[in-house]
Amino acid sequence: MTGKEIITKFKTFFIEKGHVEIPNAPLIPENDPTTLFTSSGMQPLIPYLAGEVHPQGKRFVNVQNVFRGQGALDDIDEVGDNRHLTFFRMIGNWSLGDYFKKEQLPWMFEYITQHLNLDPEKLYVSVFEGYKEIPKDEESINIWNEIFSNVGIDPKERIFPYGPKKNWWSRAGVPENMPVGELGGPDSEIFYDFGAELKIHENSIYKDEKCHINCDCGRYLEISNNVFMQYKKNANGEFDNLPQKNVDHGSGLERFIMATENEPDVFKTSLFYPIIQTIEKQTEKNYLDFTREMRMITGHLSSSVFIISAGVTPSNKEQGYILRRLLRRAIDSFEKLKGRELSPIIESLVNQYKETDPVLVDKFEEIKNTILEEQGKYEHTRKEAIKFIQKKYSLTPTLSHRERIKGEGVGDELMGQTEISADDAFILYSTHGLSPTQIKSLGYVFNDQEFANKMKEHKTLSKTASAGMFKGGLADHSELTVKGHTATHLLQQALRDLFGTQLHQIGSNITSERLRFDFNFDRKLTDEEIEKVEQIVREKIKDSLPVHFEILPIEEAKKVGAIGLFDEKYEKQVKIYFIGGSGKEGDHNAYSKEFCGGPHVNNTSDIKSFKITRQEKIGVGKQRLYAVVQ
Ligand code: GLY
Repeated sequence: MTGKEIITKFKTFFIEKGHVEIPNAPLIPENDPTTLFTSSGMQPLIPYLAGEVHPQGKRFVNVQNVFRGQGALDDIDEVGDNRHLTFFRMIGNWSLGDYFKKEQLPWMFEYITQHLNLDPEKLYVSVFEGYKEIPKDEESINIWNEIFSNVGIDPKERIFPYGPKKNWWSRAGVPENMPVGELGGPDSEIFYDFGAELKIHENSIYKDEKCHINCDCGRYLEISNNVFMQYKKNANGEFDNLPQKNVDHGSGLERFIMATENEPDVFKTSLFYPIIQTIEKQTEKNYLDFTREMRMITGHLSSSVFIISAGVTPSNKEQGYILRRLLRRAIDSFEKLKGRELSPIIESLVNQYKETDPVLVDKFEEIKNTILEEQGKYEHTRKEAIKFIQKKYSLTPTLSHRERIKGEGVGDELMGQTEISADDAFILYSTHGLSPTQIKSLGYVFNDQEFANKMKEHKTLSKTASAGMFKGGLADHSELTVKGHTATHLLQQALRDLFGTQLHQIGSNITSERLRFDFNFDRKLTDEEIEKVEQIVREKIKDSLPVHFEILPIEEAKKVGAIGLFDEKYEKQVKIYFIGGSGKEGDHNAYSKEFCGGPHVNNTSDIKSFKITRQEKIGVGKQRLYAVVQ
């Protein structure tokens, strides 16, 4: 079964059950300052899982491109085994306080056994065993008992309870790691059994049993995660019930492909194997002998291709830094195998994904050039690093840079090793961006312990610098952030009052510290203009304008003059926030009318102050303003 067939069957199945398809949100989230990538299908739905009204209803289905390379959802180091990928397509369905466990679990079983045609004999499930005040999930156990009994399978051998490390889901991981305000809940996972003969090692840490459904040996594969999203962490570290009980289900398309092809190695499925074969050609080596390296090349390059197609270029910060790390890891493995050309591999990758992601074909040249350029920069960086060490240690170069980098012409043992200080190794790490392994592959040895100490020091520093990042997405519904959202609407309208309605938002980013608003404008604002904008916003705050929202058909929203970007392909109904007028349903005579998910303050007087703190030009015809509220 192709990926596209699996997707179509899934969407049809859930659409027939009253679900509305929602779009694949951008891989780089818009208007979410706390996370670098979209890493789960639920991310764009967070405000609605938390209780906001969604204009399209209560049942959703989609396929979301996700990248897991940051925070608690960081799988970069896992790539290389039989199943981990950092980029994958997450097939999902959601219930916003509508149906719950007794619908979701039988539906998933039906989809998997009757639409993907997987043999029920090969399926196992896990459920939440309970933790502190959160009880054991007896309801799911009872539902699974019935499901397995109905197909003549003894449920006793199929249902396994686990604690929060395995059967609790939040974007931050286990309950202790969740920040205040983050959503989470127990989950029930479905596993596919590739068969006893596949047991590779016996060191499962679970239940003192040799191999178990959560064992890492590769025999069992988690193919579906049904999260019962019903809690929110409070300031005392306890869990409050959300206003509604939600279902948040996500399954990896690539894992469904593995199960339907009964192939325990994701890189040998019909999706990835042609790429592996291209790597074999380019390196003149065998997958069997160099499995890990070839998996790393494929896994890291496929994530890179999607990240680049989302508009990111390699750099030393944020998404660009992660992309650089992925590319350099892929290049390291490729060079280790003395590979010739990356281009045919990129081409093969785009070819394999083009059925589900045709955008990659349009962006092929951009993707290829970005990767090849980074390959060149990486080589340059390593030459500079070698120069730095040779100068510092007054070494006469015995090998050319290329030979050192590529290990060409000499066996590794003859390349010679130069001892350098941990401080210098750290300089190569922090200023040249080379990892310890990369430094060693240049033929330099250093004291690992001293280097580790330096790293620790550095990590503490960078942790302080990035405190606040990855705390959680729009779950940041702190009072100040909500005020910032409303102030941003007022700011946009004030700018349009002054400069005309061709001016509109091209981006925004709100944290509890400040709001940031990007708009189309070709020059800086003068001091007087800034003051004028501030005055208008402050006046609207003083006027105590009521804030309310309405769900309107898209044509109606346009008719009343609401602004914002609608996605007409997916949205029939939209949520519009009105600031001003009587605040009554149906009164559209407001000062600001904007398409938005919310939440917002109830009245502008909830905002106590507003001040523009900074402006900058962010591109041709693009300006940015920063402001603070209280
Ligand atoms: N939100 C469920 C998952 O990502 O597994």
